[in-house]
Amino acid sequence: MKTKVVELLLGGQYISGQEISNKLGISRTAVWKHINSLKEDGYNIDSQFGKGYKLLQVNKYLTPEKVKIGLKCKVFAQKIIYYREVESTNDEIKRLAEKGYHEGTLVIAEKQTMGKGRLGRSWISPPTGLWFSILLRPPIPPRDAPKLSLLAAAALQETLCKEFHIQTKIKWPNDLLVNGKKICGILTEMKGEMDRVSYVVMGVGINVNQEVNDFSGELLNTGTSLRIIKGKEIDRVVLLRKYLETLEGFYLDYLENGFDRTREACVKNSHTLGNTITIFSGDQKFTGKAVNLGMDGALILNIENKEVSFYGGEISTKKD
Ligand code: BTN
Repeated sequence: MKTKVVELLLGGQYISGQEISNKLGISRTAVWKHINSLKEDGYNIDSQFGKGYKLLQVNKYLTPEKVKIGLKCKVFAQKIIYYREVESTNDEIKRLAEKGYHEGTLVIAEKQTMGKGRLGRSWISPPTGLWFSILLRPPIPPRDAPKLSLLAAAALQETLCKEFHIQTKIKWPNDLLVNGKKICGILTEMKGEMDRVSYVVMGVGINVNQEVNDFSGELLNTGTSLRIIKGKEIDRVVLLRKYLETLEGFYLDYLENGFDRTREACVKNSHTLGNTITIFSGDQKFTGKAVNLGMDGALILNIENKEVSFYGGEISTKKD
């Protein structure tokens, strides 16, 4: 209902409490409560006796009612849980999954205090980025779960290209790079039995509006943001909406038709294929030419004229 109130206010004129109440079929008291709650969320709303309410400025946050405006998703983000600050959106989704929440539930946080990266690393998550996780309950065996990381990367690659004219490359298994620097990390976690996934947490972190001096230490040379690339601030709400729509498209297509669309996108936009790379898998390392992406999502290396498939690990790329 809050989304609908915001939609009416977006008209830009004063609108009376009575008119909102008539249009939405709710009481004047309910309207008043929604307006107050929006003010608490940081919306600047002018109230004038006899005239009603006028939206002076929308808030700068990723609040659910804003994300939902015009969102064309059927499964994703029907339920959104929003935090100004949380330890990790992935951990929140896990808690909700255990409570039986539905597929598509979305947790968004302005800031994470204990953001998690792959391989036990931490993920720095200041309020300028986009940090969220989605609950998935795909009817697939656990061995197929890693495909969902590639799917998330492929969907973001397409969103950034089509909607923001930003060309990115997918570094297997799940990073998105611009000019060799990382703008997105994906952490998919899974709970399942031998033959069936119980749930998957798809966690996505996008560096959106950080400035150059927000990257320090190791990230100085390895990380970048959409703002740095475009030279202007990016609307995180628009980005999130567009991404959710594309991601849902990829996901539903995967469930219906299999991995082809994701695989093709990953091959076409690969940062990895064609290069000689070293892959660190457990405490071993292997070097070879990355020659293909398997139908199962594996990275195929040619090592001394033999094709070897890898299902996970960390790679370093030496451009040929
Ligand atoms: C990586 O190491 O590249 C993966 C980073 C994944 C970060 C995202 S931010 C939202 C979600 N919540 C987390 O704690 N991690 C993921």
